Amino acid sequence: MLKSINSVQVKGKTILVRIDINSNIQEGKPVVSGRLKEHAKTISFFSSKKAKTVVLSHQGRKGESDFVSLKGHLIELEKLAGKKIFFSSWEENFKEKISSLKEGEILLMENTRFLEFESIEKTPLEHSKEKIISELASVADYFVLDALSVSHRSHASVVGFIPLLPSFMGPVLESEIKNLDKALNSKEKPRLLVLGGAKPEDSLKTLNFFLKENKTDKALISGVFGELFLVALGYKFGKKDSFFESKGFLSFIPEIKEVYKEFNSKLVFPKDFAFDVNGKKENLFVFNLPSDFISKDIGENTIKEFSEEIKKAKLVVFNGPPGVFEEKEFSVGTKAVFQAMKESNAFTFLGGGDTGTALNFLGFSPKDFSFVSLSGKASLKYLSGKKLVGIEALRNSKN
Ligand code: 3PG
Repeated sequence: MLKSINSVQVKGKTILVRIDINSNIQEGKPVVSGRLKEHAKTISFFSSKKAKTVVLSHQGRKGESDFVSLKGHLIELEKLAGKKIFFSSWEENFKEKISSLKEGEILLMENTRFLEFESIEKTPLEHSKEKIISELASVADYFVLDALSVSHRSHASVVGFIPLLPSFMGPVLESEIKNLDKALNSKEKPRLLVLGGAKPEDSLKTLNFFLKENKTDKALISGVFGELFLVALGYKFGKKDSFFESKGFLSFIPEIKEVYKEFNSKLVFPKDFAFDVNGKKENLFVFNLPSDFISKDIGENTIKEFSEEIKKAKLVVFNGPPGVFEEKEFSVGTKAVFQAMKESNAFTFLGGGDTGTALNFLGFSPKDFSFVSLSGKASLKYLSGKKLVGIEALRNSKN
């Protein structure tokens, strides 16, 4: 059973909290996002309950430019939580630092991915035998997993403490699961799936699951994913065809054709696109394809159709923007889709790695929607009916 940390007293207890403040890094510093804001709330909540809180998170991946220390995150977390936060590297005597924490105090550990073993996928039991994991567990009372966004990774800091300590879900994870389940099990019709973005593999799994399990009445498909459906129907984009090929996207065409064969009455694709014609926006209907230019957004007619569908819906599950929202000219489709969701009376669930950034960029707030997930890949996996290792480890925990 999944246990909430709210079910136990944390006063005076030392808790290891795995959050996810993995952020975009600009000039070495994290860009403040929903992740930092929401996890800062968890940290100050534990502090106000007089727990001794030890915070764990990763940042970036080894070899990539965003693989940096969490010292910059500490500054932002302190501002957001309004509290002093101590810091420990992995080389220091962190056991002593943890043991000397007083009630209400917080310690942030260095980037967990600075530990060589962290990113190797192993079982919870295997990870629990790692020296640093058992050392941390030996000075703690509870483990709290508080990030859906890492729950699909069988990494040491996600699953390794679960065989060693009474383990719980934290408020952020609990809220993510509650809202994902709501999005998956809504009975109020019409239910709408709105998929876009440039990661067709993940979107295809979610679409398949929603259609086969009758969890949606209609799917609006745009972004690169929508374009691939049109390619499967025989359209040639022209200049963009070589992009689809270079990314290996054409390998999804047979599966897309299968989905279309079975569910075409539930699928809505773009009728027109906005093309980048030497920096100028030009609207082009699909029957006028191919083009010597690159499509970057859905067109005016598609925007109208999508907006009307969204406004009629009782459930909207969104993942992935319809266009290149970072370029003002081509952000119109994404903005209109968000605006329609904001105005609708539906339960609106938004997931996706870039969604938080897109909302912020286009002047929307998470408060404009029913729920904005902090997770990309993990939320799509959950919405594809797949089990996430971190959540399963918590569920099967014997402690
Ligand atoms: C994310 O940003 O999606 C999560 O923090 C997971 O990061 P990862 O894909 O590097 O494991």
